[in-house]
Amino acid sequence: MSEQRWVPLFLLYTVWASLLLVGTRADASLDVRLVEGDRPCVGRVEVLHEGQWGTVCDDGWDMKDAEVVCRQLGCGAAVEALSSAYFGRGDGTIWMSDVSCSGSESTLTDCDSKGWGNHTCHHKEDAGVICIGKRDVRLVEGSSHCEGRVEVLHEGQWGTVCDDGWDMTDAEVVCRQLDCGDAVEAPGSAQFGQGNGTVWMSKVSCTGSESSVKDCTSTDWGKNGCGHKEDAGVICSVSRGVRLVGGGSTCDGRVEVYHQAQWGTVCDDNWDMKDAEVVCRQLGCGDAIEALPDAHFGPGKGSIWMDEVSCTGSESSLKDCVSRGWGMSNCGHKEDAGVICSAGRDLRLKDGSSRCEGRVEVLREGQWGTVCNDGWDLKDAEVVCRQLDCGTAVKAPRDAHFGNGTGPILMSDVSCDGSESSLKSCKSVGQGEHSCSHGEDAGVTCTGSREVRLVDGGNPCAGRVEVQHNNQWGTVCNDGWDMKDAEVVCRQLGCGAAIEAVSSALFGPGDGTIWLDHVACNGSETSLKDCGSRGWGNHDCHHKEDAGAICSDVKLVTGATRCEGRVEVLHDGQWGTVCDNGWDLKDAEVVCRQLDCGTAVEAPRGAKFGPGTGPVWMSDVSCDGSESSLKTCATPGAQSCGHEDDAAVICTGKRDLRLVDGGGPCAGRVEVLHKGQWGTVCDDGWDMKDAEVVCRQLGCGAAVEAPGFAHFGSGAGRIWMDKVACTGSEALLKSCESAGWGIHVCSHNEDAGVVCSDPPKKEEV
Ligand SMILES: *[C@@H]1O[C@H](CO)[C@@H](O)[C@H](O)[C@H]1NC(C)=O
Ligand SMILES: *[C@@H]1O[C@H](CO)[C@@H](O)[C@H](O)[C@H]1NC(C)=O
Ligand SMILES: *[C@@H]1O[C@H](CO)[C@@H](O)[C@H](O)[C@H]1NC(C)=O
Ligand SMILES: *[C@@H]1O[C@H](CO)[C@@H](O)[C@H](O)[C@H]1NC(C)=O
Repeated sequence: MSEQRWVPLFLLYTVWASLLLVGTRADASLDVRLVEGDRPCVGRVEVLHEGQWGTVCDDGWDMKDAEVVCRQLGCGAAVEALSSAYFGRGDGTIWMSDVSCSGSESTLTDCDSKGWGNHTCHHKEDAGVICIGKRDVRLVEGSSHCEGRVEVLHEGQWGTVCDDGWDMTDAEVVCRQLDCGDAVEAPGSAQFGQGNGTVWMSKVSCTGSESSVKDCTSTDWGKNGCGHKEDAGVICSVSRGVRLVGGGSTCDGRVEVYHQAQWGTVCDDNWDMKDAEVVCRQLGCGDAIEALPDAHFGPGKGSIWMDEVSCTGSESSLKDCVSRGWGMSNCGHKEDAGVICSAGRDLRLKDGSSRCEGRVEVLREGQWGTVCNDGWDLKDAEVVCRQLDCGTAVKAPRDAHFGNGTGPILMSDVSCDGSESSLKSCKSVGQGEHSCSHGEDAGVTCTGSREVRLVDGGNPCAGRVEVQHNNQWGTVCNDGWDMKDAEVVCRQLGCGAAIEAVSSALFGPGDGTIWLDHVACNGSETSLKDCGSRGWGNHDCHHKEDAGAICSDVKLVTGATRCEGRVEVLHDGQWGTVCDNGWDLKDAEVVCRQLDCGTAVEAPRGAKFGPGTGPVWMSDVSCDGSESSLKTCATPGAQSCGHEDDAAVICTGKRDLRLVDGGGPCAGRVEVLHKGQWGTVCDDGWDMKDAEVVCRQLGCGAAVEAPGFAHFGSGAGRIWMDKVACTGSEALLKSCESAGWGIHVCSHNEDAGVVCSDPPKKEEV
């Protein structure tokens, strides 16, 4: 006997002796143990032979062998059979090799092998096991320990659970309890076969926070009228071996695969639609819609398990696809791959130029149908864009702009407040409650971009430029900011052409990081990130230098300011004019709103700002005034107008003050814009002197009335001003004495109002 063998034997003797001394009964039959794991029931497998512990070689080591070990140790089901000294190299003898259990053996040493100490292995091949551990719940008859019929241990006896009231919340508790990830399904009706013990639980009702399903409310133990035909089952995400994280549903998100009892990510090198198809099919999520690179759903944590994945598309599991090998990746988590699958979506956009534009279609009871445009506006579109992970809404076109749909018209009179997470949660009327035709199908155009946005400009195509980097939105400094830079932003957002490159925080200062400085685009880049700059976060600026952009497919030309002039619209890449047939103040209102120019003062006809050149793109425009874009008010096309009939608009100009809900721009509830947010004014101390300042500032003549008590209805959002005390001669309401921004003891039923004598005039320049 070598010295190597003698040492462990001595140790064993010491342990044995000390166990005897404290009077504990040692189980002599336990000739297997797990060492070097981070918790019980996990570790390198060691067997005892001739009084000496030694290891097991991984040649032929598989789940059946692992199951025997776990059962023998009272450790529940096997989770994973590990090779290549996953839990470190042992020393001493390698006792077993080519182990081949049938799975029903009661001890590992009963399994076939090459014989004690007969091997051609090295300790770098030591076998390991992860068992689930001692649990009072288990899943049986599934393809892994993470799916199957639910069985609970009660009074020393395993029994089943009845499917009465069985749901996903209950399944969630079981999956968590078994370290099996999230619940994917909660099937009933003995989908995993009928059990044979007592039906222990029925009418299970978990709150979701329980640590064991046995702690959930249910009928008395074993007292229910259920038979085994009603046995409940569970499928957990670990059983699928792949999951999608960070999307809106279980069918979109960052791809994570389960390996060595750990979730890890997949690198986007070579990641394409064929790979995405395998993932979607494997998850029962239908077809792949998009394969996304660059941690689109945020960066994951832990191991990057797969890289350079190259599926043929027909594999049944991502793990079957060719790749560099487990954990053999040189990527960072900012390259994590993502997938969007068709199922899990009950909403889609059809017949647009990308998946983020088109006719809105919703899925009800297995059938796709359209949405009627009655009441359809930008707030509704906003919800659609958010739900589809398509950035923000640019347009909400009506009248089957993307062509007539087919099938049922499933929703109408949709009225979202814009903050809903899904279109379904918005108020609407259903099929059979409307008289719409497919000629009224609603559409949406989203920016599609999660890299850049325009904020606080009153519409999605104007505002302070914000870019996302490291999952954080930040601003751009105006040093070197020009029209070429603005053009790239406008194009990237699908917002038409750049009308103005704005500086000095005209749209209010942002907060957060200033991400870019000295941006220098040549104008043809597809993304602002491709333009030259000083590098992320490298700047010497303040937020009062935040850059902005105004984009539009409409502009006003030859006026004294950008807020008055001949109307020109961009179509098919070319600017043209609008014929004044039917041109009125409601049409002008839409143009002013679209350009963030306040409200409309005049809608001049007969080429008041001179005749244009090029095509006359629109005629017979008839907006109702609430549209977000002029183009949605009429279908473009060649008209029989000449340029002597070119339409024009005069707007008040951008304002930080407005009167709303009073029937026109010169009467209503007073609202002020501060820090990019509209808010109201409290009526404490509100009088005719204050109203005079408001009317003068808006170019609305003299004050007629200064009603309080929310005479024009209660506003929403912030109450920005209180105890306003103007002398009457101030040019701006903001210059009057008050309690200070946002300081008040009021409620919205005290909102102040004003009635002025005249219709609005444009701002003096
Ligand atoms: C060792 O295993 C090999 C292959 O199974 C077998 O042929 C050989 O007889 C074994 N040797 C001993 C000493 O059992
Ligand atoms: C009960 O089920 C277990 C496994 O689910 C099985 O091993 C056992 O043989 C069954 N007993 C009877 C009496 O059917
Ligand atoms: C679209 O539907 C409307 C109303 O049902 C119909 O009048 C129109 O002809 C349809 N358009 C096309 C191109 O089919
Ligand atoms: C503009 O910049 C892009 C990206 O750097 C480059 O590919 C392109 O050739 C440049 N175009 C011109 C006209 O300089």
